[in-house]
Amino acid sequence: MSRLRAFELCRYYRRGPQEVRAVDNVSLDIRRGEFLAIVGSSGSGKSTMLNLLAGLDTPTSGRIEVDGTALNSLSRRELSSYRAKQVGMVFQSFNLVAHHTALKNVELALFFNDTPARERRLLASHMLERLGLTNRMDHKPADLSGGEQQRVAMARALVKKPSILFADEPTGNLDHENTEQIGQMLTELNGQGQTIIMATHDLELARRYAHRTVRMNYGRLIEAPQLPDRGEKSQ
Ligand SMILES: Nc1ncnc2c1ncn2[C@@H]1O[C@H](COP(=O)(O)OP(=O)(O)O)[C@@H](O)[C@H]1O
Ligand SMILES: [Mg+2]
Repeated sequence: MSRLRAFELCRYYRRGPQEVRAVDNVSLDIRRGEFLAIVGSSGSGKSTMLNLLAGLDTPTSGRIEVDGTALNSLSRRELSSYRAKQVGMVFQSFNLVAHHTALKNVELALFFNDTPARERRLLASHMLERLGLTNRMDHKPADLSGGEQQRVAMARALVKKPSILFADEPTGNLDHENTEQIGQMLTELNGQGQTIIMATHDLELARRYAHRTVRMNYGRLIEAPQLPDRGEKSQ
């Protein structure tokens, strides 16, 4: 499931008399099982692009298709279902709920996902264990290090078993060791068939882990190499 395509996608913001073209006429085809990196300097439109593809924001013009179905043709309910079931998002600033524990933050991701209440806690704690946070479940975000918060944010995105994982600057605030850990984790997930779409300003990171790297500059895709021919991964 989940081939993602963007057609002439635009997202403009009005700032006073000025128009900011955060995403400007971008077309992109992302295959199931790909590990794609979107690279660009700060302000180039990466986060806006991820939010559009994840159905969290609406384009000014252009179209996004998931497995051939246009996102803008979905009802409100269908769109929520796409966000709740297919999409996992690790936000640049984590967006953890400050007054909830790590465990509760991860559990909340299952709230809109038809998961029975009694299973939420179990699934959430298993995912936190997998990410090495067994002893941090009862901590609130403020009492966790940057690397730990990042892993809680990952756990929250992954606990839904999304078919597409969006990771916005997943290593932005991390030291070398934590960066490696996140990179390896993304690779492992990708190996299990998950589509990974990572935004980063770090070209080295992208080169090391992603199958394909595209670049954004002032909202435009300035380099979009052809999909590599990856044999068994082709779709
Ligand atoms: N809500 C908003 N209102 C106005 N301008 C915005 C908004 N969000 C982003 N922008 C602008 O859009 C451009 C792209 O932002 P963003 O997608 O966050 O870039 P990146 O993630 O690559 O740093 C920037 O110029 C930013 O200031
Ligand atoms: Mg960003």
